[in-house]
Order: sequence, then structure tokens, then C-alpha cells
Amino acid sequence: MFFELKGKDNNSKARAGVVETDHGLIETPIFMPVGTAASVKGVHQTELTNEINADIILGNTYHLYLRPKTDILSQAGGLHKFMNWHRPILTDSGGYQVYSLSNTNKINENGVKFKSHIDGSTHFFSPESSMEIQRKIGADIIMAFDECTPYPCEYNYAKRSMHMTHRWLERCKTFLNENPEHYNYKQTFFPIVQGSTYKDLRKQSAEYIANAGAEGNAIGGLSVGEPAEEMYAMTEVVCDILPWDKPRYLMGVGTPINILENIALGIDMFDCVMPTRNARNGMLFTAHGTINIKNKKWEDDFSPIDEMNHTFVDTFYTKAYLKHLFSANEYLGKQIATIHNLGFYMWLVREARKHILTGDFTDWKNSMVKQMDKRL
Ligand code: GUN
Repeated sequence: MFFELKGKDNNSKARAGVVETDHGLIETPIFMPVGTAASVKGVHQTELTNEINADIILGNTYHLYLRPKTDILSQAGGLHKFMNWHRPILTDSGGYQVYSLSNTNKINENGVKFKSHIDGSTHFFSPESSMEIQRKIGADIIMAFDECTPYPCEYNYAKRSMHMTHRWLERCKTFLNENPEHYNYKQTFFPIVQGSTYKDLRKQSAEYIANAGAEGNAIGGLSVGEPAEEMYAMTEVVCDILPWDKPRYLMGVGTPINILENIALGIDMFDCVMPTRNARNGMLFTAHGTINIKNKKWEDDFSPIDEMNHTFVDTFYTKAYLKHLFSANEYLGKQIATIHNLGFYMWLVREARKHILTGDFTDWKNSMVKQMDKRL
């Protein structure tokens, strides 16, 4: 079985489960570190496995298609072999990156014409080509090609776009049915709910996606600038409709607080660049709030980075040392901060799972949300 529920919280819709792939198990709720271009920036695969203990990482079709290019990944025998990462991988379809990263793009029913952010060359993605590329990349979980609407988004645009995403879903499914896996392991396909911040559209989209009967489902088009309360309202509407016995993936979310609140609403999977990107700017997430390690106040603070010691860097190095590394613009600073933040995110979702299984998730979540909302 692809997904098995192991327990539920007593006072919220939070769930704990296990996703099974041919590259191993994923305990949910889970956070997936982002490894956009066949690398989780600054982190060795050994550290990802042994220190951070990530169950699964995410790759991006858009980036991998442009560089190193799909053919190289095929020749390598797929992304797992290419990057020597043998746990599960999920690839996003490009249905977000073409809008957020490429210089210009033109969308029509057929697909999206876009310019590479690397060299300005022109390319075209369709539901079919995204599926074909994702077959060759070889991730364990592959995503539908969709349009992620911006925020704010006019109602009629959001409606038209949602229907197009639904039509694109049918084309993705047809392509996958006619073109089996390239490698000797299974790829599981997730469709994506859209509908911007409109409850009626979200309901309609969730019903359409639920009817598609996929083994897992995703929610897109959120965390694009809307207030957190609107995001939670959409998650709630959609989770009430998506099948309870399939994993639910909220794409591109979010802060530690966003993650806990969405777990409470019934989300099982998350990804976000925040722990890695913010680490490179000197922002550390902890259970007691966020730290800007570049701040002068840490200059002579010889206490450990984080006494909770989620990963070895937390007690191996002091705040004063990490502050110095950032001041001196040393690579090591960014690496340490990234390992710390990913270790913290993994601790957070594992701890959430424990509390769901013991039944006291809601009390724990409420106290964590209060604690983490501080700047240290
Ligand atoms: N990542 C964050 N949001 C989205 C979305 O709406 N669609 C896709 N494909 N990826 C995302």
C-alpha cells in the first residue's frame, strides 16, 4: 500500500502515517528539503542521510531540464544515481518555476512558452513534456503540470486557470498511461488543487482532484503572498474534500508555524526553500524563535548554536563562531546554518508526529506556535 494512516490527533485533523516508495518509507507528517538542481545547497548527501535524516528530498523539473538537461539524467540512470541519493525523491512539474523564475512566459491551452533564466533561450513545457521529463528524471513521486496563480488573482482568471489545470491533468494522466516508467521502480503521480483564495473554486477543484483517484494529492497556489489566515482557510476547505486515506501535500509551505497549523488541518507533506535559503542569509530557526546570526549581539556569545542539538553542528559550534563566519563571508557559515535549519525542521515534524500518536498534538502545537513566534 502506498499510504497507511497510523494515528490521528484527538482535538484536530492532524494525522500520522507512512508513505511507501521503492526507495524507502516516509513517515508523515514530513518536511522535504529542496534540492532544486540535484543538490540541497551546501549539504552533502551523507549529512542529509546521517545528520539531518531526511526521508525524502525534492527536485525541480524546470531546473534539471535546463541543466544538466534531461538526456544527461537519462544517461546517468536517473536522478537518484546521478546525485548518489538513494532515498525517495519528489519532482515538481515546472508548473510553478516557469512562472516564478523564467524571464518571460506565455501561457495558452497547449502549455507554457518560457525563457531560460540561465541564458535567455526559449523553451516550451506542456503537460506531456513535463511528464516525459519527469519519467526520465525518475523521481518516486511526480507532480501534475499546473498553473500556479499569483496573489491577488482576479476571480475570473482564477476560475479559467483552474479549469485549464484540470484539463491539463487529463493530458498528464493520458501521457503517463501510455508511457510507463523508464526505470525499474514505481513513480506515483500527484494531481494539484488550484483555485486561488476563492472557497467555491477551491471546493470545485478539490472535488475534481479527489475524483481523479490518484494515490496522493497536492494543494498548490498557496504561500504566494496571501495572509496566513487565508492560506489556512483554503487548506481547511480542501482537506475536508480530499480523500482522508491518501497523503496530502501542501506545496511551497512554509514557516515552522505555517507547518504546524497546516498539520492541524490535515496536511501530511511539505516543502519549502525557507530553511535552506534563509540559512544562507544568517537566519536560524529554533524552538524558541528565530535568530539573525549576523546581529552584533552574538559576537561574544560563546553558547552553543542550539542547546537542543538537533544535529551535531548545534553544539559543535558556538553562536560567536557562526557570527564570525557570516561576517567574514566564509562558506562554512552558510553550511552550518543550513544543516541547523534542516535539522530543526526535521525535528519539528518528527515531534509533531510523536504528539499526534500520543494524542496531545493540539496542546503541544499551541505552545510551540507561541514560542516560535519570537525573535531572539
Ligand atoms: N510550488 C508551490 N506552489 C506550487 C503550485 O501551485 N504548483 C506547483 N507545481 N508547484 C508549486
